[in-house]
Amino acid sequence: MNNYILKVENLQKSYDSFNSHSMFKRKKKFKAVSDISFEINRGEIVGLIGESGCGKTTVGKIITKLTEADSGNVIFEGKNISKLSKKDLQPIRSKIQMIFQNPSSALNPQMKIQRVLKEALFSINITDKEEQENIINQYITKIGLTKSYLSRYPHELSGGQKQRICILLALLTNPSLIIADEVVSALDLSVQAQILNLLKSLQEELSLSMLFISHNLNIVYYMADRIIVMYMGEIVESGNCEEIYKNCRHPYTKLLLSSVLSLEDNQEIEEEINTEYKDKKNDNACVFFDRCPKSMPICNQKKPENIIINDNHTIKCHFAE
Ligand SMILES: Nc1ncnc2c1ncn2[C@@H]1O[C@H](COP(=O)(O)OP(=O)(O)O)[C@@H](O)[C@H]1O
Ligand SMILES: [Mg+2]
Repeated sequence: MNNYILKVENLQKSYDSFNSHSMFKRKKKFKAVSDISFEINRGEIVGLIGESGCGKTTVGKIITKLTEADSGNVIFEGKNISKLSKKDLQPIRSKIQMIFQNPSSALNPQMKIQRVLKEALFSINITDKEEQENIINQYITKIGLTKSYLSRYPHELSGGQKQRICILLALLTNPSLIIADEVVSALDLSVQAQILNLLKSLQEELSLSMLFISHNLNIVYYMADRIIVMYMGEIVESGNCEEIYKNCRHPYTKLLLSSVLSLEDNQEIEEEINTEYKDKKNDNACVFFDRCPKSMPICNQKKPENIIINDNHTIKCHFAE
């Protein structure tokens, strides 16, 4: 029996990009997300990593239905939610919650925290005042704050405290899947570990499943059971943490890892780029072709297939072996 809570299949999403050099501003589509498939098992934290602009947030927004995919399926708790009507989607929406990078923009500055939370409960039809207060009181200690914070305005809270409130907001609807998108990137380094530990302990206590999105490999390694590496809208490698750290095979993952290691040693790493074949990138080239230190002519002619190396390791590269 399968044990996954979420399965996404072949997600595609393109945006219009305008060619500013053209006199007629011709519209051109570019693929923000291309052929993304993966699963998240119950109680598992899957890390999604890749540099800024590679499509991580778009994947999160497609899963939470904040963005509509062009094609592909999102199967949540056994149900294909890609094509549900608004009405049928309503009960499922509260089961998947997304937490974003910037807690300040998620909280209305004119409302005290208490009111923000009550309105969130109201929106999921919990209207009884006493019940609202019970729920809020129960969660406020879980996220490491006290009741006294409820009568404050967002600007009276630190960044870390605001992010704790955003985590609380996500938990209010009793979700089973959390999409955490760069949730510590806007916070001071000293606060980051506290928020990560909070998320980890909540995940265990409430048996949550999580897609943990970050551009920071160290943080993903700390948080996740399994890692998915994205580059320019595609998954180029995936595997459990140990496997990725010790046995990664994709040149892009290796580059990510070496930049982490060199940061630890305080050295800059120079990307060795083989420029011999790189002048013209084909539409059907490997996504990493023009930056890959190992690329060969075939990498510009044919997209690599997704190769399954073992139960918990896949890679998209012509030279995986
Ligand atoms: N609403 C949008 N309209 C046009 N382009 C977008 C939109 N949202 C994202 N993009 C583009 O899609 C690509 C992927 O974005 P995003 O998913 O935010 O990446 P990441 O989260 O990995 O930084 C980027 O090039 C971004 O500029
Ligand atoms: Mg993002």
